[in-house]
Amino acid sequence: MDGFEFRDGRLWAESVAIEEIVGEVGTPVFVYSAETIREHLARLSEAFSPLSPQLRFSVKSCPNLSILKLVLDTGAGLDLVSGGELHRAIAAGADPAQCVFAGVGKTDTEIDAALAAGVGLFNVESGEELATLTSRCEALGRSARAALRINPEVEPGTHRHTATGRRATKFGVDLAEAAAIFKGHDHRSPLRLVGLHLHIGSPIATPAPYLDAIDKALSLRDDLRKAGCTIEVLDLGGGFAADYTTGQAPPAKAYAERFLPRLAPAVAEGLEIILEPGRSIVANAGILLVRVVFTKNSGGRRFAICDAGMNALIRPSHYDAFHFIWPARVGEHWVPPRREAAPPLEDLEVVDVVGPLCETGDYLALDRALPPLARGEVLAVFTAGAYGMSMANRYNSSPLPAEVLVDGDRWRLIRARESYDDLLEHERPARLARALPSPPLSTSCP
Ligand SMILES: Cc1ncc(COP(=O)(O)O)c(C=O)c1O
Repeated sequence: MDGFEFRDGRLWAESVAIEEIVGEVGTPVFVYSAETIREHLARLSEAFSPLSPQLRFSVKSCPNLSILKLVLDTGAGLDLVSGGELHRAIAAGADPAQCVFAGVGKTDTEIDAALAAGVGLFNVESGEELATLTSRCEALGRSARAALRINPEVEPGTHRHTATGRRATKFGVDLAEAAAIFKGHDHRSPLRLVGLHLHIGSPIATPAPYLDAIDKALSLRDDLRKAGCTIEVLDLGGGFAADYTTGQAPPAKAYAERFLPRLAPAVAEGLEIILEPGRSIVANAGILLVRVVFTKNSGGRRFAICDAGMNALIRPSHYDAFHFIWPARVGEHWVPPRREAAPPLEDLEVVDVVGPLCETGDYLALDRALPPLARGEVLAVFTAGAYGMSMANRYNSSPLPAEVLVDGDRWRLIRARESYDDLLEHERPARLARALPSPPLSTSCP
């Protein structure tokens, strides 16, 4: 389910016509549906309710403050992977005790900030990090809880850039090393090592890889128990799939039904379960609107050149990801019955939907069958809510897009479009002087 549909050939976000938003805000703009986010969180929560999991929304998927506030209002906490995300979480009003903090490269500054804020659980990714976190707790006189991220060596069946639980990735520690780390940890220290953390990749369209990983985690938990270490928390990470094409992703209950028999006995013994969903909550809750600047034919191909490409949505070029794209206004006979690569409609034209950047890899879709496109037309790029704006960049000095949140028949701007002046902000002399008040003298530069 999501809040975007065609009515009489016009695209609507909940009860707001997309044309109204574009008319006022322009393009490129990300538009989110509040109801879709609430609905996806509710479904996940309901599906997993027998395990009473703590939901920790993955900030990296869609970090806008208004989106975080919306998520926090449902009672969920947040999953963080950087000091910047901690800063955002606090600005959005999150209770740090309801946040988990993962990330392979936490700096001492980030660790200290998270300890000072009282983050509920550190997901530690190496022996060195555990030692550092322990010593920072001692130095600052703080106590904290940690889970060790393990690498269960499973094949998640995703793009190589987002497969994190395979052997020899930079994430977590090998199972054999995990046991040694637990046994070697001083359990009287102010850092309580109480849990295991997994995040095996994303998007994962079948429960099977999770089951494999859960079995390995539960077996490690048994071994550790025999060695006198109690595991109180199992954080299963995120990674649930989203509907990039209609009906592609299993519903939350399809994962939950398979997880329950394995996890229920441990939960009955007191094991806390944490889930860190991002994509499955926000991907379908967001679309990106771009405008066709020019069309042209070249080398036997047809191109629609838009006012944004991989600067706004890098997923097609970075992950070979499919995003359904369709004009925001079409004749009735071109309303797509489903979101899929080749809708069963007449008179479509195959086109490459590309961005304006000076790079051949700058595209949103290749070889896509679409109604014939014309200069000035607005295109909707669907399922762009997760890892869209959060991975957007300023390549070619492109200001970051605006963001809009729709809730029922109301909508509001939740991030202003960047201006050209914003692009220069951090290079201005006054800003540089604030950053480094007394720059070291250099003899090599004029
Ligand atoms: C540690 C961790 N947890 C959760 C997530 C969220 O994953 P997804 O958005 O696929 O649910 C990620 C994403 O990369 C992650 O690295």
